[in-house]
Amino acid sequence: MKAGVFQFCPAFGEVRSNLERITTALSGSGADLMVLPELCLSGYQFTSLDEVRALSEPVPDGPTVQALSDLARSRKMFIVAGLSEQADGKIFNSAVLIGPEGWMGTYRKTHLFFEETLWFSPGDTGFRLWEAEGVRLGLMVCFDWTFPEAARSLALAGADIICHPANLILPYCPDAMVTRSIENRVFTLTANRTGTESRGAKPALRFIGKSQATGVRGEILFRMGEEEEGVRVTEFDPLAARDKRANEYNDLFGDRRAGMYDLE
Ligand code: ACM
Repeated sequence: MKAGVFQFCPAFGEVRSNLERITTALSGSGADLMVLPELCLSGYQFTSLDEVRALSEPVPDGPTVQALSDLARSRKMFIVAGLSEQADGKIFNSAVLIGPEGWMGTYRKTHLFFEETLWFSPGDTGFRLWEAEGVRLGLMVCFDWTFPEAARSLALAGADIICHPANLILPYCPDAMVTRSIENRVFTLTANRTGTESRGAKPALRFIGKSQATGVRGEILFRMGEEEEGVRVTEFDPLAARDKRANEYNDLFGDRRAGMYDLE
């Protein structure tokens, strides 16, 4: 499977031009699966709820999902994209999965970061999987990386690849995702953005780039630069994630002792 990310700097509020950039980049990617950053159509640093509302759209009937569905159909690819979703009078920081047959499902970010708590409702979808031509895809969004339960839930459900749209500001996530891969024996694709946003009187937010793919033993299949923009694709066998044996005595999931963990 050829899978990758498009790392770029979305222009705040410029949904149409961001979508054009995405369409051009993904059309030439040659990938089976592409992951885009969190909130990749709207930008990140909102200054009011009205602004968030104006930059949100219903899923799957909104223009972005429709445009990405056309792209996925014509290129026979799967796309994961972060966007601001309007639903039932609420707004969610969501990731959508789209395939050659159109919209497949939505994940709503569980762990909201910083001022996102002012704008978005906490996600209510939980962590679930979708099958893409026999490959099981799980979705999580940015700050979910801080909670190992997110990747663990997806891996225990059977994820082969964790698709992870992000707008990373803190420096820790790329290394943490290496650990998420090692402890869960899964592939991960983290798509981050670049650039800086400084809107209204707010302190500037600088996004760290470093989008990456990791393999089941924590190999860094690629890691992009902090300011690099573009598509990066790698090739791997996603079914390697089904083998959880560490050696002839240990199985990473079989050896779990759920009764010993007091997690609640
Ligand atoms: C983040 O969750 N966007 C840091």
